[in-house]
Amino acid sequence: MSEQGLFISFEGIDGAGKSTHIAALAEAFRAAGRTLTLTREPGGTPLAEKLRVMVLNDAMDPLTEALIIFAARRDHLQSVITPALQRGEVVLCDRFTDATFAYQGAGRGFDTHVLHTLEQWVQAVPNSNASAAQTAKAEPLLQQPDLTVWFDLAPEEAAQRLAGARLPDKFESQPVAFFKRVADGYASRMQADPQRFARINAAQAREAVWLDVRQVFVSKGWL
Ligand code: TYD
Repeated sequence: MSEQGLFISFEGIDGAGKSTHIAALAEAFRAAGRTLTLTREPGGTPLAEKLRVMVLNDAMDPLTEALIIFAARRDHLQSVITPALQRGEVVLCDRFTDATFAYQGAGRGFDTHVLHTLEQWVQAVPNSNASAAQTAKAEPLLQQPDLTVWFDLAPEEAAQRLAGARLPDKFESQPVAFFKRVADGYASRMQADPQRFARINAAQAREAVWLDVRQVFVSKGWL
């Protein structure tokens, strides 16, 4: 019997330090014999990577930004994420839709109703895959991560870690107040769907953060 696909996303404000832990998890899953798809948003396909360059570098109005991000997400889901999950792979995705609610919604103040609508258009799962009980619900079934690991770090601390690290992009160059709103945005998303989230205290030393991350996967029986 083939293994179940697993869709994991990683979130947090810029500077929270998710990259090294994604790499370590990839290693741990490979060691456990799982086939991996390692990907990111915005991006993950040739088209979505082109859209990423625009989103991270060009000034644009918030609706344009949200539409481009969800267009990239649509392409990514259709050509990479969904096929990988159907093959039974582990998909490790550096950011997904929670980032849009946190950055575009809470950070930039864009209308979250519109984001919810775009989320439903882009992530709706075709009815044929839904059980009778699921289709009977008012809300359509959405393709969401099985687990979202949220690296939670105070914006002041993240800013210190980022200082001088490299040339900042459009979001990284935002003031601390912006990242406070983004962090609140992540907290609201977690509150709305607590089962899906694992909040990690990213203020700890790197090794302690890794032990916490690893423990989440061990306790779920995934590693
Ligand atoms: P990030 O994931 O931190 O990649 P890197 O490690 O290369 O910097 O950068 C992506 C940036 O895009 C980050 O600042 C958050 C932003 N972003 C949004 O604003 N909305 C989104 O929906 C996503 C996925 C990312």
